[in-house]
Amino acid sequence: MIKRVRSWLNRGDSQPELQLAADNIPEHVAIIMDGNGRWAKKRGMPRIIGHQNGMKAVKRAAIAADDLGIKILTLYAFSTENWKRPKEEVEFLMKLPQEFLAIELEELIDKNVRVTMMGHPEDLPSHTLEAMKEAVARTADNDGMVLNFALNYGSRKELTRCIQEMGQDIHRGSLKPEDITEEMIGSRLLSGSLPDPDLLIRTSGELRLSNFMLWQLAYSELWFTDILWPEFTGAHLQEAVAEYQHRTRRYGGLT
Ligand code: IPE
Ligand code: IPE
Ligand code: MG
Repeated sequence: MIKRVRSWLNRGDSQPELQLAADNIPEHVAIIMDGNGRWAKKRGMPRIIGHQNGMKAVKRAAIAADDLGIKILTLYAFSTENWKRPKEEVEFLMKLPQEFLAIELEELIDKNVRVTMMGHPEDLPSHTLEAMKEAVARTADNDGMVLNFALNYGSRKELTRCIQEMGQDIHRGSLKPEDITEEMIGSRLLSGSLPDPDLLIRTSGELRLSNFMLWQLAYSELWFTDILWPEFTGAHLQEAVAEYQHRTRRYGGLT
């Protein structure tokens, strides 16, 4: 089945329609939203203006993902390494979830979107965590697209914690080392019951994972673009999905 998708965002009518196979839409798409600072710098503006505009791209990406029938959209919003940035920038970034949700939460509820958070809650300021908790609680019964924010997320910390917890369970006698399976490890990670991403997108031309979902991305398809995150539109997501549909996923086997 072919899904005709109109390029509806920020692209002229001259752009040809992309034809996407409706039966091969990636179920879980993860995005490393990068390039906000460079976007602002190019315009002679402070970095935070880049983050502000990045928030608009979050909305565009979420709408486009939902329209395409993507079931889970994971967005890398703040890494465990991003605390190294200047205090003012970190403080600004920590205000964005509140700001985004104050504007968008009602619409997310209307659109049946379920908001989730993947990250280490303990270091987040309480105003950030409370805003996220409210969004998670108020959308908990929705069964539409999952919008999963990776906030204070770091894969090595996630794996370290998981190993520590399993060690404690072994020490207590509730887990035997030989009973540890790949599925068990996966389910004990912050992504919990979410399936692994089928497609990873990174914007801004950087070709690295920056400590993002190292376990979960083992067999994901990777798509990199030079587009800076605040310029990202639904048309770019379509482009990524179109390329995904040309990939052959072999998982080490033969086709
Ligand atoms: C991504 O944009 C947003 C976060 C990492 C929070 P950057 O802020 O990393 O932008 P660049 O990479 O400096 O351009
Ligand atoms: C990765 O981007 C983190 C997020 C997008 C939240 P960074 O800008 O922090 O990554 P590096 O430092 O270039 O690897
Ligand atoms: Mg960056």
